[in-house]
Amino acid sequence: MAKIPTVLSVFGTRPDAIKMAPVVLELQNRKSIKHVACVTGQHRQMLDTVLELFGIKPRHDLDIMTERQSLEDIALRLLNDLPTILDKVQPDIVLVHGDTSTAFISALSTYYHRFRVGHVEAGLRTPNLYVPFPEEANRRLIDTICSLHLAPTDNAAKALHAENADPSGIFVTGNTVVDAFLFTAEKAKDHPLPEPLTDLEPGKIVTITAHRRESWGEDLANIGRALATLADRFPDFTFVFPIHLNPIVRENMMPHMEGLDNLVVIEPLGYLDFVALMSRSYLILTDSGGIQEEAPSLGIPVLVMREVTERQEGVDAGCLELVGTSEKTIVDRACAILTDPDEHARMAQAGNPYGDGKASWRIANILERVLTGEDLEEGERELDEFHFTPSV
Ligand code: UD1
Ligand code: UDP
Repeated sequence: MAKIPTVLSVFGTRPDAIKMAPVVLELQNRKSIKHVACVTGQHRQMLDTVLELFGIKPRHDLDIMTERQSLEDIALRLLNDLPTILDKVQPDIVLVHGDTSTAFISALSTYYHRFRVGHVEAGLRTPNLYVPFPEEANRRLIDTICSLHLAPTDNAAKALHAENADPSGIFVTGNTVVDAFLFTAEKAKDHPLPEPLTDLEPGKIVTITAHRRESWGEDLANIGRALATLADRFPDFTFVFPIHLNPIVRENMMPHMEGLDNLVVIEPLGYLDFVALMSRSYLILTDSGGIQEEAPSLGIPVLVMREVTERQEGVDAGCLELVGTSEKTIVDRACAILTDPDEHARMAQAGNPYGDGKASWRIANILERVLTGEDLEEGERELDEFHFTPSV
């Protein structure tokens, strides 16, 4: 009897855990594949809440996080610890996700072991190697050493083709964050907001997140000042900011956000609580990648507090607007949306170009065919089983 192929998934931060969770659940259910999950623990608390929500019990946990870790700290610890797991598991392919240090260093170690790398969320690009930092370099480097590119959108696949990646290894699956989000949004419908948000009026909430490394320093301070100005100008709205656990983000922003009752800065929320918060919001201000892909499913406008985005589809569709990190622009654009219902409606009606909730199913279908050597020519089976076509 032919050996069942082994897929090893390696992830370890909040965003890659959320985005890999539906893939892990799907692969665990496939009889034709043996799946092993390994978490790096690059994030600790923010990872653990995701594992708990999705009921994932990883076989291996490298537990590498340290307080105020540098990029080198993460790389060194992971390069030290992952080889033992690779030697033990002997995977037919290692799946990594996106653009974190966990993803790049795990891909590198896998390449050194001469195992195949599969990249979920392959092909996202900005024109600037330093923005976002270090994610732009991480994802380009992963795409250079991987053989299976699971691109979320046609745009991402086009970028890979333009870089001469082997076309037979490029697939368009949709983004798995939509799978995770739809699963969680269903549970969040009747889920009350946690303290101290329990009594907030739905539709009178502005949700905020900000953490990007390239914004550390003056840009995060600008964002903090903009939030304080907005909270002061719009006393009818509550501005809720679950702030990242990174102490540097807190030091940069907290001094600018004190003394306003309607600017509520709280600890990071578990994913279910956060989805419940987003779904009751009128507007979202963020520099997060994942939130740009989730909010369009709810029809909630997003102002992206970054200079460039690799998620241009949402900008083109009209649900995202790039506002940069200047205090004045953030305040002006948020004011426009909070005061003009037409501006709000224009962004709210755009739809979600990132996925349809079936990306993980497609990824498992593709892995089954690729790992068993079956021909993946179109026509034999439904195109939808292997290819995501956006409805917007
Ligand atoms: C990482 C990713 C970034 C992603 C972000 C999501 C890299 C290079 N960056 O950046 O792409 O957008 O995660 O949040 O991989 N901390 C805790 N507990 C936690 C998580 C973080 O205390 O559960 C603190 C620690 O002090 C840690 C610091 O935050 O040292 C920074 O974490 P790190 O993973 O290095 O960077 P992020 O900015 O979170
Ligand atoms: N998120 C969460 N709790 C929070 C803030 C965000 O669960 O308090 C979720 C959010 O819905 C999204 C993901 O975390 O799915 C985004 O993570 P982050 O912003 O840390 O990383 P990025 O997407 O920028 O890489």
